[in-house]
Amino acid sequence: MNDRIKAAVRVRYGRLAQQALHGSPASCCSSTSSCSCPSSCATTDFASLPAGVSGYSLGCGNPPALAGLQPGEVVLDLGCGAGLDVLLAAQKVGPAGKVYGLDMTEEMLELARRNQRASGMANVEFLKGEMEHIPLPSNHVDVVMSNCVLNLSPDKAAALTEAHRVLKPGGRLAFADMMWLSEVPASLRRHLELWTSCVAGALTEAECRHLLEEAGFTDVEIEITHVLDKDELLKLSQAPELQEALAPYAGSLVSAFVRARKPKLTDK
Ligand SMILES: C[S@@+](CC[C@H](N)C(=O)[O-])C[C@H]1O[C@@H](n2cnc3c(N)ncnc32)[C@H](O)[C@@H]1O
Repeated sequence: MNDRIKAAVRVRYGRLAQQALHGSPASCCSSTSSCSCPSSCATTDFASLPAGVSGYSLGCGNPPALAGLQPGEVVLDLGCGAGLDVLLAAQKVGPAGKVYGLDMTEEMLELARRNQRASGMANVEFLKGEMEHIPLPSNHVDVVMSNCVLNLSPDKAAALTEAHRVLKPGGRLAFADMMWLSEVPASLRRHLELWTSCVAGALTEAECRHLLEEAGFTDVEIEITHVLDKDELLKLSQAPELQEALAPYAGSLVSAFVRARKPKLTDK
């Protein structure tokens, strides 16, 4: 099942990137998309990005604003997609800092690199890879951020263990993601389309907290930022049978912002 999930995720996001590369960005800000970001379009200030960068976001929050980024910091964005959060973060850390964007989908990286060229920002590097095997050394970054990506991983324990490994001691994890307020219904979990649209793989708050602590994080804070109403929930799929399966769960799926810290060497 894990390989099937990853393959389906690559196909879906590869297709969305292809559409954007060929001139019809399928941003979540459009009314026809079926991805789960009801809040990033409202909360993210893409206007600060240079002209020529495509307004293409598939996130569910605004990690570059919420992560408290400081000039000179080194940042990693897991599942960076078209790279808009990477570029926003690069503005915040400035030329003395650096932002890596990691994505496993080749077409997304092509789009991200095109956006980087349009931005002219030099303090950015896009890497191909999976968040369950991050291609960076240990203790290397100050902040790991991510926008609507952890839910897509079939092995979230591995992804969080890797995030913890690459963070410097005292480093911060800051990510936006979809979350369930109640147990994820088994009837929804088995639909691959609902995995790829950020629904079926979303954690509950308790599962998220447990996985973070197991991976070694402390100071876990989870803030619910948006509760999806029925219209938003039904927009997550265009298949009538999946919309029918989703309808009873209006009010149970939310976007959340999660903060945690890798302990300092001096912490007990
Ligand atoms: C919902 S989109 C979010 C993109 C971006 N963070 C944004 O806010 O626009 C998910 C992205 O994560 C990438 N992705 C999904 N699973 C991944 C994994 N296991 N490792 C690396 N990238 C992954 C996909 O290729 C896709 O570009």
